[in-house]
Amino acid sequence: MSDHPPVVPPFDGPTPEEEQATIAQSVAGPLFARPWQFVKGVVALSGLPTDRRAEVAFVGRSNVGKSSLINALVGQKSLARTSNTPGRTQEINYFEPGADAKTLGLTSQPYLVDLPGYGYAAAPKSKVEAWTRLINSYLRGRAELRRVFLLIDARHGLKANDHETMDMLDKAAVSYQLILTKIDKLKRTEIDPTIKKAIADKARHVAAYPDVCVTSSQTGEGIETLRTAVAAALLDR
Ligand code: GTP
Ligand code: MG
Repeated sequence: MSDHPPVVPPFDGPTPEEEQATIAQSVAGPLFARPWQFVKGVVALSGLPTDRRAEVAFVGRSNVGKSSLINALVGQKSLARTSNTPGRTQEINYFEPGADAKTLGLTSQPYLVDLPGYGYAAAPKSKVEAWTRLINSYLRGRAELRRVFLLIDARHGLKANDHETMDMLDKAAVSYQLILTKIDKLKRTEIDPTIKKAIADKARHVAAYPDVCVTSSQTGEGIETLRTAVAAALLDR
């Protein structure tokens, strides 16, 4: 018999962060299994749902690919309407999963929220001004909003109006995460510098989430990762 004390192996189980990620991953599968459905289009704050269900919203300049990204997340080509012409989405559109929340591992049916874009849009100026006011009020004051996903076209990077939106979200203490879209439009060699630049550009924004997602609704790149990020945001708290 050896007289050495028994060796206790170091604890190498998952960290709390790793556990959270595993839970989010297991929720993301059933959450994004089809079908999702359109609930309503909202044109005034008074029309927002009042059932206090958790929601995440997709925001960004017109034409960055918000509606396409929602379609890619749920795997349905035409749940949200998309177009080549900036200004396609003109209402705050709510979507929900058809499946029962209990089977999703969530306490209530969540909402995905597709917003009209900001910046140039092929629509009358008064209409664009009205929906811009609406999305700003919505973003600042919506308690149900767990995370905002702020989309940036990877080819163009962050513009002045993106920084304005981020300043507003910082002030309102609304948590948001940047997503670089249309990554399929970049050359492979351009991708890393683009991500680094986006990370550097968001550095002064206090409410920005540390990770930047990189996606293509066309090739599916980054969609699985984004599904997990959405599930994690909905599970949070
Ligand atoms: P608004 O509602 O007008 O603000 O636009 P949006 O941000 O919802 O953009 P939408 O999803 O309508 O997409 C705008 C255009 O970009 C469409 O022609 C899409 O097909 C195209 N698009 C969106 N995502 C991608 C992508 O990942 N890759 C490529 N190549 N094109 C994309
Ligand atoms: Mg849209």
